[in-house]
Amino acid sequence: MFKKFKLEEYLARYEFSAPYLMCSSDPQTMLMKDVLALASTQEKEMWDNLSLSYTTPEGHPLLREAIATQMYQGLDKDQILCFAGAEEGIFCTLFGVVEPSDHLIVITPCYQSLLELPKAKGCSITTIDLQESNNWQLDLNAIKAAIKPNTKWLVMNFPHNPTGQVIAPNDLTELVQILDKHGIWLFCDEVYRLMGASDTVWADPVACVYPKALSLGVMSKSFGMAGLRIGWIACQDKSMLKKLEHVKYYTSICNSAPSEIISLITLRQKDIILSRINETVNHNLQCIDAFMKTHAEHFSWVRSKGGCIGLVHYKKSELVDDFCHRLVQTEGVLLMPGSIFDMKSNHFRIGFGRQNFPEVLDKLKVFLK
Ligand SMILES: Cc1ncc(COP(=O)(O)O)c(C=O)c1O
Repeated sequence: MFKKFKLEEYLARYEFSAPYLMCSSDPQTMLMKDVLALASTQEKEMWDNLSLSYTTPEGHPLLREAIATQMYQGLDKDQILCFAGAEEGIFCTLFGVVEPSDHLIVITPCYQSLLELPKAKGCSITTIDLQESNNWQLDLNAIKAAIKPNTKWLVMNFPHNPTGQVIAPNDLTELVQILDKHGIWLFCDEVYRLMGASDTVWADPVACVYPKALSLGVMSKSFGMAGLRIGWIACQDKSMLKKLEHVKYYTSICNSAPSEIISLITLRQKDIILSRINETVNHNLQCIDAFMKTHAEHFSWVRSKGGCIGLVHYKKSELVDDFCHRLVQTEGVLLMPGSIFDMKSNHFRIGFGRQNFPEVLDKLKVFLK
C-alpha cells in the first residue's frame, strides 16, 4: 500500500555505516547529561520522580504550554497536540484525516510522506514543483491555477527540505488570502523553523495567522533531538485537533514519558539551545560560501536560508547519483542525490548542522582533487 520510502531507506543503508555524514537534516545533538544540567530544581524533581506509566494522549500539559508560549504567539496549550515525532503528525493528518474524495495540492520536491500518504489514501493530488529559476520560491499563480472545487488541502514545507528556502512573509499573507477565499486547509511542515542563516527573515508559523492551518513542529530538527520522538501540531481549531487525536489512538496512543520531560526542559531553554545550533549552522554556511567560490566549476546553489540543509547543483556531465556513490565509497562521505526526492536534475542535498562539517568538507575537497 505504501510506496518504498526512498529517503529513509537510503539513510537506513548508510547513516550508521558511512563515517562522514554530509546530508543529515538534523543538526548537532546534545548529551542527556548536558540537557539535565539545564534543568531547574522543579524540572529535576519531575525527572527523578517520573512515573513510567501511560501519559495523557494530548501530551503533558506543561509541555504543551511550553510549546505554545515558546513557539506560537497567541496560541494556548489546548491548541497543541503532541505526537511521536513529526512523522506521526503527518500520518495522522495526511492519511488519517484526509478523505479519499479530497483533492490536495502538494508542493514538491518534498519529504516523501507529505505526498505518498494522501496518495495511498486515494486522494487526488496536483503537485507543484518549486523551480531553481525562481530561487525555489512558492509560485502563487500556479497554486491559484491548481485549485479545484474539491480542493481541501494545500500541503507545503517551509523551511524546505531539500532546498533550505523559506517562505517570504508577504507570500504567506497572500497565500492565506487565496486559501481563505476557497476554504482550503493549510498543512505546513515547519520542522526546521528558527534554525538557519542569521539574516533570514521568518514568516509567522501558519497556525498563528490562519484558523484553518496546521503547523507541524518537532524536537528532531531545530533542537537536534530526533531520538526523543516528540513532535506536535499547532492549530487554532480544536475540533481539528480532536480528529487528529482520534487517529493517534490507533498509532502511538500517547508520548514517551521521559521524552516529554526532556523536551520540556529543552523548550524552556529554547533560546540558549537554538543559538548554539545556529552558531554551528552559520559557521558551516560560511565554510560552504568559501567552498562554492573555489569550486564554481563543479557546483552552484541558491544559498540556504532555513534549516541545516540545502540543494547543490552538480554541474558536471556525470550523473549526480554516480558522483555521490563514488564519494561515499572512496572517502566515506555521504551526500544525498536528488533522485531520492524524485528529482530529475543533477542536484544533491547537503547537510551542514554538525560540528565536524569543516573536516568533512575537507574530505570532499580531497576527493575533488
Ligand atoms: C520535512 C520533514 N518533515 C518531517 C520529517 C520527519 O521528522 P521526524 O523524524 O522528527 O518524525 C523530516 C525528517 O527528515 C523532514 O525532513
